[in-house]
Formats: sequence, C-alpha cells, structure tokens
Amino acid sequence: MSFPTHRPRRLRRNEAIRSLVRETRPSTAGLVYPMFVCPGTGVRAEVNSMPGIAQQSVDKLVEEAREVADLGIPAVILFGLPEHKDEKGSEAYIASGVVQRGVEAIRKARPDLVVITDVCLCEYTSHGHCGVMRNDEILNDPTLDLLAEMALSHARDGAHIVAPSDMMDGRVAAIRQKLDASGFPDVAILSYAAKYCSGFYGPFREAAQSAPQSGDRRSYQMDPANAREALKEVTLDLEGGADIIMVKPALPYLDIVHRVRETFDVPVAAYNVSGEYAMVKAAARNGWIEEKRVVLEIFTSIQRAGASIVLTYHAKDLAHWLKAC
Ligand code: PBG
Repeated sequence: MSFPTHRPRRLRRNEAIRSLVRETRPSTAGLVYPMFVCPGTGVRAEVNSMPGIAQQSVDKLVEEAREVADLGIPAVILFGLPEHKDEKGSEAYIASGVVQRGVEAIRKARPDLVVITDVCLCEYTSHGHCGVMRNDEILNDPTLDLLAEMALSHARDGAHIVAPSDMMDGRVAAIRQKLDASGFPDVAILSYAAKYCSGFYGPFREAAQSAPQSGDRRSYQMDPANAREALKEVTLDLEGGADIIMVKPALPYLDIVHRVRETFDVPVAAYNVSGEYAMVKAAARNGWIEEKRVVLEIFTSIQRAGASIVLTYHAKDLAHWLKAC
C-alpha cells in the first residue's frame, strides 16, 4: 500500500471523478428549518444576533412556510413567544397558544410540510427555566405533566412530530403515554436526548426571549465534558418511546453524533444551533470567511458525522445552493 502504486490524487483529478467517489452527499432531504411564532398580525421582527431569522405572527409564518416548502425543505420546527409568561408557563399548553395556531395554519396551507414542535416551558415561564420551580429548585416530576399537556395540544392541532427539549428525566415516556391515551399514537417523538448546557444557545434566547432570570441550566442540561453519559441519555429516551434522537449543539459535539450513530439504529438528528449560526454570519459579514463555502462544509460535516437530519437556520440558503449544484 505505498507510493507510487497508490496515488489518492487520481480520484481528485476533476469534479466528475470527485463526485463519483463522494461519500457524503448533502441534500435538502434532511433539512429542518426552525421558526419563531409571536402574537399579533403582520409582525416580522428580525432577531438582532441572527440575521435573516425573525419572530413572526402566524400570517407571516405561513408565508415563510410556503417559501420553505417550495424550496424542497421537508420540515419546520416551531418555537413560541407567548402573550404573557407565568410561573407555570400556562400559554405553552392552551389551545389558543401561538404555536398551536401556527401549527394549524401551516398544516392547512401546506399539508406536504412536516410540522415539528419544540416542547419546553422556558419560553413561557416568567423565570425562564425549562421546568416548574420551587424556591431555587427546578422540579422534575411536576413538570412532566405540563410537558405532556403541551405535546398533546400540539398534536391536536396537527403536529406530526413533537420535540421535547427540556431535559427533565422521564419526559419522553410521559409524553408517549399521554399521546397514546388521547388518540394520537401516530404522532412521533423527536427527543433532544443529548442536549448540552451550551454557551452556543445565546442568540436563541434573544430570539425566543427565554433566558433564565436567575441561575443557569446546569442542573438539567448535560455537562459538555461528558460523552458516555450521552449514550445513557439516548438509551433512556429510546426506552421511553423516542422515534428520533437528537444531539445538540452540532459542531462542538460531532464526536457525540458519531458515537450515537454507531451505537443506535434509529434516525439521528443534530441541531446546528443559534450561536453556531451567529458566528458564521458575523464572520461572513466582516468578509473573514466565505459564507456559502463554510455553510456547505459545516452541513456536510454534520451529515458525515452521522446525522441524517439537521436542524439549521441556514436551511433556506442551503436549499438554494444545493439546487444550483
Ligand atoms: C428550549 C430550547 C433552546 C434551544 C432549543 N430549544 C434553548 C435553551 O435550552 O436554552 C436552543 C436552540 C438554538 O440555540 O438554536 N429549551
């Protein structure tokens, strides 16, 4: 196996040959576009730290959802900004909530688009934590019922997939049981199984107005230093009934994506999060990197690591670029 018999450059001579032997073929088929729904009508408010991404009222949301579907992107995931926040995140699970109305409207406008909903209380609670609080403690078990109610309310309006991102123990089973008992056995669960306590969520918390008012999320989200624990989290969520499992963020955790892919025979998703997006946008705006090239490289690397589904704010740009390829 040595030179001059072997010359790897033979297979890199031109684009046609490179294309023939390419191992990872990025395609729009695995893209999910995250969207933020807010109250009102005619509202489209760009998020400062996420150029191109906006908080939108249901009417504007539907307009963009049509554009997304026309681009061949198969799915969107919805996050909500409620009218009012309270201790128990009440607007997370009411029928007239923003996400519930958003799901219904998108399903009506574009039945071909897969609608995923984020299931978590942090956007809806006054304290900004993902669970119910007592004093300074985030309570696990009392939160489960609220999350299950939230998932059920999304299912009632037509969500195909619900995606719990709260990291409470036992939430997948609680949601599965509630959906099954309420006549929604076909609604799937995409669990944020290995969700790390990450600094890369910064811009999202501006977009979703969901920053914790005190403390941080270390008592429920995973320690970035742990890899084996991710496999345990995935095992538990699969036992609870998860259909798709997710690793989040993506780039700093590609080793986790890879390990999860190698260990489990279920669809694996990765979330290329807000901070990863903001860094690319900021550097590109300064002319320090070539945006298209870098975004395609990032997307390819996430798929190469083993994620067949990628949630990314770059989805529309990627769909345009991949169409032109
Ligand atoms: C809700 C949630 C968060 C993200 C997705 N769902 C924020 C958080 O956990 O603080 C982050 C997504 C992103 O940064 O793009 N819990």
